Amino acid sequence: MGFLNLKPSAASVISFTWLCLFACESTEPLRIVHNLDTLNTNVDQPYRTAYHFQPHKNWMNDPNGPMFYKGYYHLFYQYNPQGPIWGNIVWGHSVSQDLVKWSSLDAAIVPSEWYDIGGCWSGSATFLQGGKPVILYTGNTNASQQVQNMAVPKNLSDPLLREWVKIPENPIIVPERGMDTKNFRDPTTGWFESVDMKWRIVVGSLEGSRGMALLYKSTDFIKWEKTKHPLHSSESSGMWECPDFYPVHVSGKQGLDTNIVGSSVKHVMKASLGERGYDYYSVGSYLVDGDIFVPDRGSQDDELDLRYDYGKFYASKTFFDVSKNRRVLWGWVTEFDSQSDDIMKGWAGLQGIPRTIWLDDSSKMNLMQWPVVEVESLRGNKTVKNNTVLKSGEVVEIYGVTSAQVDVEVLFDLQRMKIAEFEEMDANATARELCSNIGVSHKGVVGPFGLLVLASNDLTQYTAVFYHIISHQTKLKLLMCSDQRRSSTLKDFNKTTYGSFVPLNHPKKIVSLRVLVDHSIVESFAEGGKSCITSRVYPTSTDLHLYLFNNGSSTILCRQLNAWNMKTTNNVY
Ligand code: FRU
Repeated sequence: MGFLNLKPSAASVISFTWLCLFACESTEPLRIVHNLDTLNTNVDQPYRTAYHFQPHKNWMNDPNGPMFYKGYYHLFYQYNPQGPIWGNIVWGHSVSQDLVKWSSLDAAIVPSEWYDIGGCWSGSATFLQGGKPVILYTGNTNASQQVQNMAVPKNLSDPLLREWVKIPENPIIVPERGMDTKNFRDPTTGWFESVDMKWRIVVGSLEGSRGMALLYKSTDFIKWEKTKHPLHSSESSGMWECPDFYPVHVSGKQGLDTNIVGSSVKHVMKASLGERGYDYYSVGSYLVDGDIFVPDRGSQDDELDLRYDYGKFYASKTFFDVSKNRRVLWGWVTEFDSQSDDIMKGWAGLQGIPRTIWLDDSSKMNLMQWPVVEVESLRGNKTVKNNTVLKSGEVVEIYGVTSAQVDVEVLFDLQRMKIAEFEEMDANATARELCSNIGVSHKGVVGPFGLLVLASNDLTQYTAVFYHIISHQTKLKLLMCSDQRRSSTLKDFNKTTYGSFVPLNHPKKIVSLRVLVDHSIVESFAEGGKSCITSRVYPTSTDLHLYLFNNGSSTILCRQLNAWNMKTTNNVY
């Protein structure tokens, strides 16, 4: 799967039990106990986050069934109540009134029946007529096959939806004869079409090496029929985990309920490609009558060619937040240290800051993502630094911020530069390749320039988030990089570099960058959310600073920098 901290492919669970001998405690009946005594208190916990979502201890992976119900946001998540590595998966459950401060509840769905005894895997929530929420999830059966199940709230008047009941009809969808029973999982949120008065969902699957989103239809949400062909598929993409399918408005930021179709709407198809370890999407048209999704660029068969995030961000899921008319995206951000480090810490896995997601008005081709506005309520002391001239080779410290918990917004001004001044670069290289070749110390023309976060005061350690502007056949390209090569001295840390080309519709005079730092996570948003890169880093220095830098030969003007110390959310466990 390409994950450094070894989440086995969902198909290889049996053998994984052996790995559990050391890290997992026992096979007692599964119940989350709200006590705080078993977090590994023998180790320092400099890498636990202060304002991101993470359980008090143990392993977490995918976000599941996010929704808003009777005044509360619900986040379910793949959780191992018995240890800090993947296994024994239940649906952990937390609630929040503001997407910022969370209270943890007992697990919502735990393995108990033949059809989910091997794990209650990912799935989604749907509101049926009358506003009744239901959950569809994948059960790993006693024979290690994947089936789809349904759970409903025991008491609809409980806004916390504390108890969930598995319906007697389970499993409600089983793999057909000839299907790959170990690659059939992660049902989406359902949507209802008035053309035939039927609900639809998609389930991720694999045929040979062709990954796909199988489409199912139902009148009652319990009896489902597979359509003749998948909603979308792609040769050689491998298993499509956690597919997501939803409408976006062609203009404006407002989100849409999953049922909406029409001429003012485009659709997004997203799949988490397990073999590559990243989330990919395409924007296109949903032809309801033909039961197909057609990406705008390319043919029906095309790969999903864009990424939500060019760093660590996987198994993501959106939901329509009816209370604020927006679509919100959650994504799992795994660890980048070793499994033995996770066992020592007693936990593994974060959720990224939830992001509002909408279609980029200027291109209509890609999505925009921005941290939900509620995160700004955590902003404390503010530091402002305007009109900083960054000469070639200069590093300028931003005083007054706590570098481990900060939200920084910067505007760089390229006003006086002409296209001829930009550096020509290898047009065939990927952004990630260019970023690794360049690095912070490259002496380019316009760039590298940007921020050094989580930096030691002797600058031997830092995570660099930077831009480099290059030209290619009279066009400018904005290259965004997040470089972890100097982030940590931890032994097994993966010193990688991430990169992305930021879509630019015309030569830009001002480029913006926002970076959220929270101890061991760095989330970077270019140009108001056109490109995002999430990194996990483990600084070993305890005295951490924030710097602006420019290493290109051209002087850069940092027109504006605002940095806020971020408060701790004090979640309730
Ligand atoms: C994605 C995934 C899903 C599966 C779940 C199991 O990370 O492999 O496909 O349902 O995790 O925890």
